[in-house]
Amino acid sequence: MLAICPNPTIDRLVILDTLTPGTVERVRQNRAYPAGKSVSAARGCLANGAAPRVHVLLPATGSNWYLDTLRAEGMDVTSHACSGTVRESIIVLEDDGRVTVLNGPGAPVSVARWDDFVQASTAGLRPGVWVICSGSFPPGVGPEALAGLVAAIAATGARLALDTGPAWMPLALRGPALPALITPNLAEAEAILTGGTAPEVTGVGDDALARAAGAAAGLHERGIDAVVVTAGSAGLAWVTREGAGVLPGQKVNVRNPIGAGDAFLGGLVSRLEAGFDFAEAAGWGMATSCAAIEQWSPGGAAAKRVAHFHDLITAS
Ligand SMILES: Nc1ncnc2c1ncn2[C@@H]1O[C@H](COP(=O)(O)OP(=O)(O)OP(=O)(O)O)[C@@H](O)[C@H]1O
Ligand SMILES: [Mg+2]
Repeated sequence: MLAICPNPTIDRLVILDTLTPGTVERVRQNRAYPAGKSVSAARGCLANGAAPRVHVLLPATGSNWYLDTLRAEGMDVTSHACSGTVRESIIVLEDDGRVTVLNGPGAPVSVARWDDFVQASTAGLRPGVWVICSGSFPPGVGPEALAGLVAAIAATGARLALDTGPAWMPLALRGPALPALITPNLAEAEAILTGGTAPEVTGVGDDALARAAGAAAGLHERGIDAVVVTAGSAGLAWVTREGAGVLPGQKVNVRNPIGAGDAFLGGLVSRLEAGFDFAEAAGWGMATSCAAIEQWSPGGAAAKRVAHFHDLITAS
């Protein structure tokens, strides 16, 4: 399994009781994690016993800490160097659960560098292998470039699991090559279907699961083999060629909700790769997301906690 990370970032968590914009605060805790959504997904894979290789388009300045820290976590990571500085994402976590995310822009990448990265990422891919790609793309890489990445992966016969926002996803779904699996959240899925842009929140009204099921069916009709639409605490809905289902959310004491969707994706793909059927793999994916958001590291999860939530999910 391969995870491609085109727009890495350092997640800087700022943990405090209440944020008052415009004031000087003394925070309770700072934490920093090498991230980018594909890296968060790879943490979800590790928690499920899979060992993905992670290939990162990595700006030179800040790259040593980034790589050393990931390797210390046990991740098999390779990098494709580009110029610039690794971007940062400031994630403010308040005691009442409010989360504020300030995403840095990333170092600009030339078309030639991007093409090299795609070539290096796809070299040696074999038919049937899963490739995870989640998140945004750096400045200089237009949404059209994503269509090229989808085509390059499809040409190898590998299976692409893609999760990217509504500014990008429509280009990846234009065909003829398509991802094998997509996992947008509800706001993203509805924006992709209507051609709009998603607010960066997930609606969790009473109808969230029904809307997720409808959106998953709508995206599946566009020819994608497997679609999961996640709906935050409400749970998720999935549609594949073989069937469809919903999984209501579990109660979780949330520490850091950022990376929930990526932990889900990592858990799901790891279990699919291990031969589980889709419904079972989706349960493991949800268990991974629950175990991830109750701790700090984006997408990270303890295998024991994944097993605990999996028991709860199968019992409910
Ligand atoms: N507050 C929560 N309580 C319980 N489960 C949650 C919560 N938030 C997320 N989850 C679980 O994680 C899964 C994915 O969450 P969500 O829909 O928020 O993904 P996302 O918006 O893509 O997240 P991110 O972009 O931060 O990775 C949900 O389907 C659910 O199982
Ligand atoms: Mg997401």
